[in-house]
Amino acid sequence: MSADQTKPSGRSSVDPFVVMDVMREANRLEATGRSIMHLEVGQPGAPTPENVRAVATEALNAGPLAYTDALGLPSLRARIARYYAEHHSVSVDPERVVVTAGSSAAFILTFLACFEAGERVAVPEPGYPAYRNTLRALGCDPVSIPVGPETGWALTPNLIDAAEAKHGRLKGVLVASPSNPTGAMLTGPQMAALVRHNEAADRWFLSDEIYHRITYGQPDVSALEAGDEAIVINSFSKYYCMTGWRLGWAIVPERLVRPIERLAQNLFISPPTLSQIAAEQAFDETTCLDENVAVYAENRRLLLEELPKAGITSFAPADGAFYLYADVSHLTDDSSAFCAAMLEEAGVAATPGADFDPTHGHQYVRFSFAGKTEDMGEAVRRLKTWLGS
Ligand SMILES: Cc1ncc(COP(=O)(O)O)c(C=O)c1O
Repeated sequence: MSADQTKPSGRSSVDPFVVMDVMREANRLEATGRSIMHLEVGQPGAPTPENVRAVATEALNAGPLAYTDALGLPSLRARIARYYAEHHSVSVDPERVVVTAGSSAAFILTFLACFEAGERVAVPEPGYPAYRNTLRALGCDPVSIPVGPETGWALTPNLIDAAEAKHGRLKGVLVASPSNPTGAMLTGPQMAALVRHNEAADRWFLSDEIYHRITYGQPDVSALEAGDEAIVINSFSKYYCMTGWRLGWAIVPERLVRPIERLAQNLFISPPTLSQIAAEQAFDETTCLDENVAVYAENRRLLLEELPKAGITSFAPADGAFYLYADVSHLTDDSSAFCAAMLEEAGVAATPGADFDPTHGHQYVRFSFAGKTEDMGEAVRRLKTWLGS
């Protein structure tokens, strides 16, 4: 077979995840002895709660860690369903809970179960880049809808209608609240309006709720509060500090359960067993996990107070998650070069906006404040010197 015939497929030619490249460069500099403040990584600095690790250790020693049901351990599915009753006053049948290898696998499974190749799915821009890249890899057609300060950084029914008029029939809409990178959150009425609007248009509505419980005053509304038709995706990665355990979940309408089960059986066999056993404990660790959120809140306060003194003054709302999406258009028209120089010259790593928004992201930088408060203070000190303010 010639190299021409065995070239990589077109659908594998998705964009790289730039934050990973920034991380690699930051780590390389650190390995040479440089001190680097990590405001690029979108993961908690705090360890997985001790009791969760203890449950995992016990299970590891007891072994064997066999496959579980493709949809997950029944006890974990029931515990996740109970979380919706406790936190959102919503009744969810455990049969509708799908446990997955991180929310990333939940996106693959739900996209495959909902969309044919070639169908259009709307995603907000700026937004988490893997939405469009995963959709593309699966042969779907992501349609980016720009959101910004004028719309409160949120998708609205009007914006969806306008996108459909411009691009043609949309088969699905995906939102994230709180959003990565902006931290913007949908209110109850905004969420309900989106659920109703998409239901009326016979469109799948997917709500990424992976930053739930990391909020700074505004309630984290679940799309399930507006009915059973929404597809909700969540994860143990962020609030629960379990990124590397690779565990997430989806709540899906009943008619999707069996199709997703068939896909999950074939694509993944089962989610990671050890992580599933440990994750059940995570729901009982809210006291220590809320202490992490208090640290993020303090980091957020510090950055919002101090970054303007360094000359970075304009931010998306940051009502939830642990990111500040900053407008740096008065400082650069190329935030990738700006971030590269900031890393090299000031030793502060942050992510250029182009990762999240190919159209306007060159004027934005995302700062993650999931790390230590003292690192935030040091980062700001360095930026003040670097920017000469
Ligand atoms: C908005 C959003 N959704 C989904 C994910 C994927 O997370 P995981 O696969 O670890 O659950 C991330 C990770 O950063 C994210 O920011």
